[in-house]
Amino acid sequence: MQRRQFLKYSLSSVMLAGVIRTAQGDEPVPTSVPDLLAQSDFISGNSLRDLPILKNESNAKGEFIGTLTASECQKQFTSNTPPTTCQAYNDVLPGPLIELEAGMKVRITFVNNLGSPSTIHWHGLPVPSDQDGGPDDPVAPGASKIYQFQLPERISGSYWYHPHPLEGSAQQIATGLAGPIIIRDPQETLAHLKESHWVISDLRLDPKGAIPAHNYADWVDGREGEFVLLNGQYQPTLTLNSAQRVRIWNMCSARYLNLSLPGCQIIQVGSDGGLMEKALPAQNDILLAPGERMEVLITGNSGKFTLNLLPYNRYPMMSKPPQTAQELAQVTFEKTAAPAALSTALRAIEPLPEGTNVLRAVMSEKMGDIMKNKGGTPPRAFLINGKDFNLTRMDLHSEVGKVDHWQIINATTMDHPFHIHGGSFQVIQRVWRGQKTTPPCLAWKDTVNLQPGETVHVLMLQDKPGMRMFHCHIIEHEELGMMGNLMVV
Ligand code: C2O
Ligand code: CU
Ligand code: CU
Repeated sequence: MQRRQFLKYSLSSVMLAGVIRTAQGDEPVPTSVPDLLAQSDFISGNSLRDLPILKNESNAKGEFIGTLTASECQKQFTSNTPPTTCQAYNDVLPGPLIELEAGMKVRITFVNNLGSPSTIHWHGLPVPSDQDGGPDDPVAPGASKIYQFQLPERISGSYWYHPHPLEGSAQQIATGLAGPIIIRDPQETLAHLKESHWVISDLRLDPKGAIPAHNYADWVDGREGEFVLLNGQYQPTLTLNSAQRVRIWNMCSARYLNLSLPGCQIIQVGSDGGLMEKALPAQNDILLAPGERMEVLITGNSGKFTLNLLPYNRYPMMSKPPQTAQELAQVTFEKTAAPAALSTALRAIEPLPEGTNVLRAVMSEKMGDIMKNKGGTPPRAFLINGKDFNLTRMDLHSEVGKVDHWQIINATTMDHPFHIHGGSFQVIQRVWRGQKTTPPCLAWKDTVNLQPGETVHVLMLQDKPGMRMFHCHIIEHEELGMMGNLMVV
């Protein structure tokens, strides 16, 4: 609670204090990140703020026109360090929320004011291959690109956007470039509910409060930040009731989010691509792998609770020191009548027909340095089907309109979230330690986690021609080779 005392100070007095201290030079500078944490000086907003929304510059019905400018900006995270240099879309962290409706025509101008090439990738959206912002289509520093696509008539869900250049995606995301997208279908079951949005990201700071240069050698299993942020805020407070729909995004590069709200239970109603067929039984905790999203409702009695991040061991086969739980937010929960729709079907989802085009993707790792231009000597490289990523090599092949049956295999010693571009898929079976399981109901996903030794079968229909990436969504693994190309003809 010591941490909260900080809230008494206004941002401006804190910044002023920081300047005076620096001028006097008598304030001890934290020498380690635990030190930085112990000094409890992370600026925390009192109450969870609403996400800033990207303005629709069009008045026409069914059309969205917007502008996203990526540039360097300064953010004051702690009271006794200088402002932190970040990179952000339209100067906000996370990037502005893009609110869309099914069937909309979307035109977004991306202005790259960064010092390096970048792209905007529309994670999970079925956009044409040349609008997908992949590594094959970089936007040079100082240049811009207009991304244009039309959403299908029937689509909904919580998606996101982030950079995807060939070099530097991990560093660009780590410094703040990522933002949420919501696609609403006014006809859907829970459309009338009030929403709460939790964009979760993690920030890594050095003892001086700066974002350290990306270190692929030490962060070979992905960069995790000490500061886990909710809508860009550290340990905020929020109020919630049982008739509220909560959308959660895991925008962390590598951190698995095992969320719990002790005293309450969590009912999952949606996943990456919107509502599932039905609500799942109430659970004490939920797990979101990097890149995944979820929609939930909270149930329980009124009261004040702590939203916790429970430890999740993503290296079950290695002996790593156990993590400790950490506080994410303070929640004031109010028990109200839960929406009636919860007990019935939430959404009709057509099962995809069995696919005859079998696509096999085996994730593996290899000791030794096969990295180019990354500096340092990472102890391992990450591969799919024995190869590291090559932009010009087509690894797998698919046909427009034909269902692909993906067999995704994790042949490594740690978890990996597997993501496929081009739209959403249906998980049909998991095989782990000889046990076959099928998901509890149909759902649309675009990112699926695999434990070591696990095989996941998914069905996916590519409805547009062109090149699509598939990769591990631990961003550092993607950059260290765990990515491949699918050619759709
Ligand atoms: Cu969210 Cu290819 O990425
Ligand atoms: Cu994607
Ligand atoms: Cu991975």
